[in-house]
Order: sequence, then C-alpha cells, then structure tokens
Amino acid sequence: MSHINKKKEWQDYAKVWGYFQSPWVPSSERIRIYGKLIKKYSKGREALLLGATPAIRDLLAKLKFRVTVVDISPLMIKAMSSLRKMKSREKVIIANWLTIRLNKKFDLIIGDTVINNLHPKEYVRFFRRIRNFLQDDGVFINQSVVLTKHVNKIKITIDKIIGKLKKDPKYYENYLNSAYDYLEWSCGHAKNHLIDWSTLEREYQKRLEKSEISPAEFRLLSSGFKTLRISFYPEKKLEKIMSKYWRIIEKRHEKNHQVHRDFYRIYVLKKR
Ligand SMILES: C[S@@+](CC[C@H](N)C(=O)[O-])C[C@H]1O[C@@H](n2cnc3c(N)ncnc32)[C@H](O)[C@@H]1O
Repeated sequence: MSHINKKKEWQDYAKVWGYFQSPWVPSSERIRIYGKLIKKYSKGREALLLGATPAIRDLLAKLKFRVTVVDISPLMIKAMSSLRKMKSREKVIIANWLTIRLNKKFDLIIGDTVINNLHPKEYVRFFRRIRNFLQDDGVFINQSVVLTKHVNKIKITIDKIIGKLKKDPKYYENYLNSAYDYLEWSCGHAKNHLIDWSTLEREYQKRLEKSEISPAEFRLLSSGFKTLRISFYPEKKLEKIMSKYWRIIEKRHEKNHQVHRDFYRIYVLKKR
C-alpha cells in the first residue's frame, strides 16, 4: 500500500504545472546537462521516463530514443503532453513506480524530482524495483532535492523573508531567490524528512490576508504549491541509501544559481 496518494495530489496540478518555473521544473541548463550525460553514458536507445516531464520527452525524441513514460496521473500525462514542443511516438503507461511490472529492460532510466514524491519509507522499495528495469550496462539519471546544509544551520524565518522583501523587492524579482528561501524554509520545517510543500505558501497567504504584504509582494514570494507531500534527505544520507543498490558514477548540478548548489543533485547511477 502506498503511503501517499500521489494520483490525488497531482491531479490538482494538471491545469497549472505549465506555469511552474525552474527549479520546480527543469531549466534549459538542466536539460543540457541531461543531454550531455545521456550522450556520455547511454549505450542503447531504449528509455524509461519516470513522470511525464515534457522537456525530457522532447530531449529524448531529439536523441532518437524509444521512450516509455510511466506516470500515475492520467491528467498530468495529458497536460504535460500538451506542453511538448515536438511530436514523437511514445509508450505511455499509467502506473505507480512502486508497483509497476515491466517485462522489458532499458538502457536509460531518467526522472526529474522523482524520489521526492515518495514517502521516505518507500525509497528502498523504489530503488530495488527500478533496478530490475535497467540493462546491466544501463544508467539511471536520478535528479532530486537534497539538503546540503546542516538543518541546524537553517535560520531563515518568514519574518526575515518579509523583511528582505520590504527592503529590496527587486531581490525577489529573480524567482530563483524566492525559490531558495522556499526550499530552505521548507527543508528546515520537515518532520522525519517529509513536509507538505504548500505549508509556506499557506503562511504567505495568511500574511496577505493580514495585509502584512500586498498582492504584488505576495506574487513575488508565491510558489503556487497546493498540497504535495515532498520528502528529501541530507545529501550524504541519500547517497548512503542509494549506495546499497547503485554506484554513483557522476554527480552534477546546475551552476546558474546557488539554489541548485544547495538543494539539487543530478546523480548518474549504475547497478551494483
Ligand atoms: C516527476 S514528478 C516532478 C515534476 C518534474 N519536476 C516535472 O517538471 O515534470 C511529477 C510527476 O510524477 C508523477 N508521480 C508522482 N508520484 C508517482 C508515483 N508513485 N508513480 C508514478 N508517477 C508518480 C505525478 O503524477 C507527476 O506527473
């Protein structure tokens, strides 16, 4: 039995996910990194995509992969398909990554912010199952939210964020700065590696209702998240969990903003 009903959570995002920006969806830099890693490591042309991320589907089509997409939400698959810039034939399977059975092995498995959708108790089961779908010389490109700071060093508060906003609204005109604070606050308020990602969004809404911030200021901070349970681990702990089943052969992150350095990793994994 699944610990979180992801089909239900994600159905609320189908109409709006197209408006979400990096880091929640892949930036063009992240897609370039994926392209380089795929060219460097993938030995064949059969790919399994976890989730329905349109930019990854376009990339795989450009690289001439035969693609199988696995996503639990028919609404997300439909919405994400409409955001694709290219057309290509794909096999689309509506299923849970934790329970899916596939009688095929792939040269490449790839997913953008996949494990963060799982309950921490589901990680081992996920890594064990996904391993079965990879060729022995295949690679799993697993991008995820990680925490590189020690949680005790996280000092950000909502009052501090609002103070910064009042002093220098231009700072938050770069959305990645808002996202940085969003990630830091949310990671700092997780319990047992899990948090409802809409928690801070709801706090911002309360401040708006109390007229502590204006609608324009709210828009600078707002992420648009609704209920979505997100899990994450400190970087080293995640690497330890993965290492039972996988060898990390390369680790990358985007360079264009500190948010990627402190909260995101792209792992290239091979089977142990
Ligand atoms: C891959 S994640 C993160 C989004 C990614 N950053 C993007 O922009 O596409 C989102 C997708 O995963 C799907 N999903 C979440 N949990 C799932 C599960 N256990 N099995 C299959 N699909 C799942 C959701 O339906 C959603 O379409």
